[in-house]
Amino acid sequence: MRTSLLFVTRSCAAVHRLQQSPFFSPVSALWRHISSQSCRDDRRSFYVTTPIFYVNASPHLGHLYSAVIADCLHRYKLLQGFNSQFATGTDEHGLKIQQAAEAAGKDPLTFCTDVSERFKHLFNSCNISYTDYIRTTEQRHRQAVKHFWSVLWNKGLIYKGSYEGWYSTQDESFLTESQVASALDSSGKEIKVSLESGHKVEWMKEENYMFRLSAFRSQLLDWLRESPRAVQPERFHRDALLWLQEDLPDLSVSRQRSRLQWGIPVPGDPEQTIYVWLDALVNYLTVAGYPDKHEQRWNVAHHIVGKDIMKFHAIYWPAFLLGAGLPLPQTIYVHSHWTVGGKKMSKSLGNVVDPLECSKTFTTDGLRYFLLRQGVPDSDCDYTDDKVFKLLNAELADSLGGLLNRCTAPALNPDQVYPSFYPQSFHSEQGGRAVAEDYHMVEAVKSLPAVVQQHYESMHVYKALEAISACVRQTNGFVQRHAPWKLDKRDSRDQQWLHTIVHVTFECLRVYGTLLQPVVPGISNKLLSRISVKPDERSWEHANFLPRFQGLDCPFEGRELGSDSGVLFSRLERQNIDKQKPKKAKKLK
Ligand code: ME8
Ligand code: MG
Repeated sequence: MRTSLLFVTRSCAAVHRLQQSPFFSPVSALWRHISSQSCRDDRRSFYVTTPIFYVNASPHLGHLYSAVIADCLHRYKLLQGFNSQFATGTDEHGLKIQQAAEAAGKDPLTFCTDVSERFKHLFNSCNISYTDYIRTTEQRHRQAVKHFWSVLWNKGLIYKGSYEGWYSTQDESFLTESQVASALDSSGKEIKVSLESGHKVEWMKEENYMFRLSAFRSQLLDWLRESPRAVQPERFHRDALLWLQEDLPDLSVSRQRSRLQWGIPVPGDPEQTIYVWLDALVNYLTVAGYPDKHEQRWNVAHHIVGKDIMKFHAIYWPAFLLGAGLPLPQTIYVHSHWTVGGKKMSKSLGNVVDPLECSKTFTTDGLRYFLLRQGVPDSDCDYTDDKVFKLLNAELADSLGGLLNRCTAPALNPDQVYPSFYPQSFHSEQGGRAVAEDYHMVEAVKSLPAVVQQHYESMHVYKALEAISACVRQTNGFVQRHAPWKLDKRDSRDQQWLHTIVHVTFECLRVYGTLLQPVVPGISNKLLSRISVKPDERSWEHANFLPRFQGLDCPFEGRELGSDSGVLFSRLERQNIDKQKPKKAKKLK
């Protein structure tokens, strides 16, 4: 609830800022439309996006990482009762794609379709539950981009000029002199490269259209200063503010058709093609329904992006939106990169990790869990098979799986039921057998949903998983401490205590299973089904731990367990993993 209220206030703040904009005409019908829509109570809607990925090469682990983060947020919002939409897709225009298609000897659209399908296949295999998969070559997107361009043009924000400077085709990015450095290529020739990405840059000089980016500097500064959580985590927010301290030159937003044919033509000037980044960023609006009715979704937009493309999202995109008179995104969640052997994954280094192969080796949920448990948004993380292996065996197979296995095994649970809780067996003041650590555990699990919620909201999923994992360890400690397998089943007091131990453990598992759904949907489903939690009993509000402890009813007591569908997560054997090598991404033919 608190967050939704924030959305509404933020939307209204965005409207207010727009009213101050020099390019804004308060009498326009468009404006009235925006104001009324933005201030509406849109509490239950949510819209999350990933970057749309370039189709010049097959997907790698980093792409899947962004998609898994977005999927986790989307699933979490659904559990919270939001009407959530989740978009991903592919970025198919531009020089880089044109050149890749040429090199592959294919016509560009066939080439794009082929690679776009690989992304889609990966996402489908990894349970990425997108609600829209956008390709920038689609007609609906061309229309949206042309419309968006015309709005900027009609407001006098685009003018014909000429650009002279550095350009990186690999990054599809313009760079200033201070952003490039000299380097040697593989043949020892001196070249210029981007300081940020290390990619080669070329000098370019051509007549094209320019966007008045410079005019938006102070508005962008105001936006970032007024909305400290607009770019998260904080270190990236600070970086964005720092960029704005520097000069903000106007931005070239088209290329000559003679150089770039693979793109959307500038409306009214077939000699020019729209710059691929302007084209690509508009995808978020296309999915929201732009230029038709788009407000409901657009007003609650949240972007997930890698740090490599933060400038495009935190500077260019908000400037375009301010120019077009549209609200700004609610949040831009930036994440860092996966490296391999301490080095950035790159095709030339041959260290690209193929996510599809990984998901086969470690299972889809295993890979999702690893990425979200080890991925820290603030800093780069290094990928090794060994880390995945150790983490999954320890936390999913042994700790969580072991706990479920123990309490559902016929030895402890011969009747295969969700047993009853006996207060007098538990409470020490009633002669029960609980000790101080057990009360600590109950407290920890009771407050876990709130802790996890806070971390999911701020996209610190690893902290949520750390907290869950710590509680799972506590529950294992609880079972271990009381060694229920040693109890005498013929003694009624022992029997009641046994039921109580298993009941408390099931209650813990029910909470863990519910909270883990956004991260490992398959494992959670298996766990919850086994302990007889029905699909409509798995939302966030159902994560109320141990109602019997507070004297309330527990609807699960006495239920028959669901069928045994095998171990929750099978231990990974190192030999099997080694056998399945190599895991390097295949080169595109
Ligand atoms: O930039 N670690 O597409 P792209 C983590 N089409 N994430 C990584 C990563 C890594 N090593 N490498 C890539 C583009 N990513 C544009 C985007 S959006 C309007 C247009 C993820 O195929 C991360 O999210 O180069 C990064 O920002 C994105 O993939 C870049 O994908
Ligand atoms: Mg890239």
